[in-house]
Amino acid sequence: MHLYVPKIAFVGSGLIPLSPIILAKTRLPNTMFHNFDIDPQANALASRLISGDPDLSTRMIFHTTDLLKMTKEVLSDYDVVFVAALVGLDKKAKVKAIEHLEKHMAPGSLLMLRSRHGLRAFLYHIVDPCDLKGFEVLTIYHPMTNAVVNSVVVARKLGGQTTTVMDSEVRSGQI
Ligand SMILES: C[S@@+](CC[C@H](N)C(=O)[O-])C[C@H]1O[C@@H](n2cnc3c(N)ncnc32)[C@H](O)[C@@H]1O
Repeated sequence: MHLYVPKIAFVGSGLIPLSPIILAKTRLPNTMFHNFDIDPQANALASRLISGDPDLSTRMIFHTTDLLKMTKEVLSDYDVVFVAALVGLDKKAKVKAIEHLEKHMAPGSLLMLRSRHGLRAFLYHIVDPCDLKGFEVLTIYHPMTNAVVNSVVVARKLGGQTTTVMDSEVRSGQI
């Protein structure tokens, strides 16, 4: 099933923006992806990587910025904000990132955060739902295969009801 989400912000897309590429190619064929990374070299390489694909090169835009410098004007423009695992390396930094997102994202928009579960937390930090102040946690998905080691937390910014992605689709794991 394909969903219609006009545009997504993917923060921490990295030099090989695999997650946005897979989402664009498998689930969201009409969505514009705005990929944000603090590292200009990562963006330059990622931009080169997708430049040979006529579809991705028209649907992916790369911005060099720190998440903590993204203003309300920028963040409130997205229906969905996806944050990679390595944005906010420890609990304190992750909470700071979540607080910044809470201040600047549009009411009703969705936040998707990479997290970990069980022993997989040796690799990266677990996002604690208690830290998502100002958001309603809709679902926490832990993949049970060995191919994917990241969990994902999906939360909605409180204070509004408007989003193009229906809650039922989120809860049923279609996004
Ligand atoms: C694991 S990598 C990329 C993720 C991966 N390519 C994917 O498909 O999910 C994480 C990236 O986050 C970026 N990053 C870390 N902190 C950031 C911040 N505060 N703002 C923006 N990007 C950040 C790093 O520069 C790095 O390129």
